[in-house]
Amino acid sequence: MTSDYHAGLVSELPLIHQGKVRDCFAVDDQHMLIVASDRLSAFDVVLPDPIPGKGEMLTRISNFWFGLTEHIIPNHLTGIAVSEVLSDRQLAELLAPRAVVVKRLKPLPLEAIVRGYLIGSGWKDYQRSGEVCGIALPPGLQLADRLPEIIFTPSTKAAVGEHDVNVDFTAISQSIGQDMAERVREVSIEIFRTAGDHARERGIIIADTKFEFGLDADGTLRLMDEVLTPDSSRFWPADSYRPGSSPPSYDKQFVRDYLERIGWDKTPPGPRIPGEVIEATHEKYREVCERLVASG
Ligand SMILES: Nc1ncnc2c1ncn2[C@@H]1O[C@H](COP(=O)(O)OP(=O)(O)OP(=O)(O)O)[C@@H](O)[C@H]1O
Ligand SMILES: [Mg+2]
Repeated sequence: MTSDYHAGLVSELPLIHQGKVRDCFAVDDQHMLIVASDRLSAFDVVLPDPIPGKGEMLTRISNFWFGLTEHIIPNHLTGIAVSEVLSDRQLAELLAPRAVVVKRLKPLPLEAIVRGYLIGSGWKDYQRSGEVCGIALPPGLQLADRLPEIIFTPSTKAAVGEHDVNVDFTAISQSIGQDMAERVREVSIEIFRTAGDHARERGIIIADTKFEFGLDADGTLRLMDEVLTPDSSRFWPADSYRPGSSPPSYDKQFVRDYLERIGWDKTPPGPRIPGEVIEATHEKYREVCERLVASG
């Protein structure tokens, strides 16, 4: 399996945004083509070695969740085939598994972070203050404990190269209006609950995640970007979950462990990754994809 995609292949459409993982091409004023590459980022730096199959798996996972949550919120998918927006037939065929044609939305200026478990920055926050992003929690919770309720802890979308900043609900209400802020919170929690139930039945715990929303030309709120992938979420294997210790995470753990081991200073450029670490990471993405998306 090789990684045979790079943005330069799509010469017939203007590249409007190149993220760490995905490339966005303009189709017209209303539509864009999002292509998920096989790039892997760790500690916010894109590593030189791609993970074969990753872009395709990310696309399958997001598309699956868009379908499962359509009754909760409409999304950015159009159903337009990649071959309808690329005249190069061979290229369209190559990209179809990793690309989607979406409605071009006006992004809401926030990352809708949702947490079901106490981990990461939430755990640090809780230890310091008994709260997570201003939301008070009962005392005595342990690392990785399930939260009594799913919580919404939005952050602002940072400029390129900067880290996102947590903000409280009041700040979000001021920026997008209270009704919109409440709707985003309600929908985010509902998606998280629905997806969490699905994943749990398949042996995966969704600890936390980030959603992005945008408004279409009619002002309708839609779910966009990627949804509940290993890149935007923390997934844990349910069978090894024990509150009190940090569960092994699906996704980039092998890479992160390797990078810690070699003492990389986490500034660009990222180091090359050995074949066995690439293979193990590929395997984790494959397993998550298989478990979540496969029917049954
Ligand atoms: N339907 C849409 N309409 C408008 N913008 C969208 C839509 N879907 C996704 N986006 C935007 O496209 C970009 C996708 O790029 P990507 O996620 O790879 O990079 P990024 O968010 O800039 O950086 P990062 O690597 O930190 O995620 C994001 O900026 C996202 O907000
Ligand atoms: Mg992104």
